[in-house]
Amino acid sequence: MSYYQIKGGSMIKVFSFVASCAGKESNTALFSDMVAKRLKEYAEKSGKEVEYKRITGESLKIEFCRSCETCFYDWECPLDNGDDMSVLKQKMLCADVILFCSPVYMGSMSGLMKCVVDRLAYWSHLYELAGKTAAVLVTSSNNHGTETASAIEEAVRMFGASVAYSGCAYRHNADPGLNNRSDMDPILDEICGRLMDCLEQPYKYITREQDISFYVRGKENLRAKAFAEIFGSDLAYDAAAWEQRGFDRYNRLSDYLKNGNLVHSSRIHST
Ligand SMILES: Cc1cc2nc3c(=O)[nH]c(=O)nc-3n(C[C@H](O)[C@H](O)[C@H](O)COP(=O)(O)O)c2cc1C
Repeated sequence: MSYYQIKGGSMIKVFSFVASCAGKESNTALFSDMVAKRLKEYAEKSGKEVEYKRITGESLKIEFCRSCETCFYDWECPLDNGDDMSVLKQKMLCADVILFCSPVYMGSMSGLMKCVVDRLAYWSHLYELAGKTAAVLVTSSNNHGTETASAIEEAVRMFGASVAYSGCAYRHNADPGLNNRSDMDPILDEICGRLMDCLEQPYKYITREQDISFYVRGKENLRAKAFAEIFGSDLAYDAAAWEQRGFDRYNRLSDYLKNGNLVHSSRIHST
């Protein structure tokens, strides 16, 4: 089960983070919009509606991670109150589908996407996006699209999300300045078909690697709990969250989702 299924209702909330500052000219924003438009058509066929919101880089102020590692202990980033990270996080946590969209810049994801992923590093300890459906949408002129999509996908999977699609729309034959529309069109059906399927059965999109790291983290949290009990110390927040979310009852993330659990999105929802 997914967050979307448990929540019920017929509205699919899609949030897109476009890590490009190209504004109205952004190819990546265009790709995101095209996916959202096609997804609306797919949703309508099954009697559902889509609410689509996107944020692009030029409207955001995001600071670089300072490597203080406070987030791994306090589960809050000291920079969050001074920039737009809280807004971005809130939008992701309230969505059923999250689109992580980036152009290829110099053979890799945009600096903004990397910056955001770094700031969310502690989500990989909390599986904050477990049960969410995600897609990674990359645009590029002619190279490094697959590698870039894979690198973003890796991070999104570490956050616990079910990644329905990860790929790139290239611009092989277009003149400079032209968008990738003709390269995007042919893959829209594949993307949207998978997104709809993932909303219904997110556990199918959890990889073996995600299940293994969930298992290992579970054992670490169990050990932390035993220590806290023996020595009468406070239970670390991640171990407490593990229990609170019912992760401790499962060895695999895929089983957790299969059994219809809902991740409560920690403190961020309430701030
Ligand atoms: C600074 C910069 C670096 C780029 N580096 C690459 C690259 O390494 N490989 C490539 O194929 N395209 C590269 N491109 C092209 C972009 O990936 C492509 O135009 C993309 O669709 C831009 O998306 P946007 O309009 O949303 O920013 C680069 C573009 C810029 C501005």
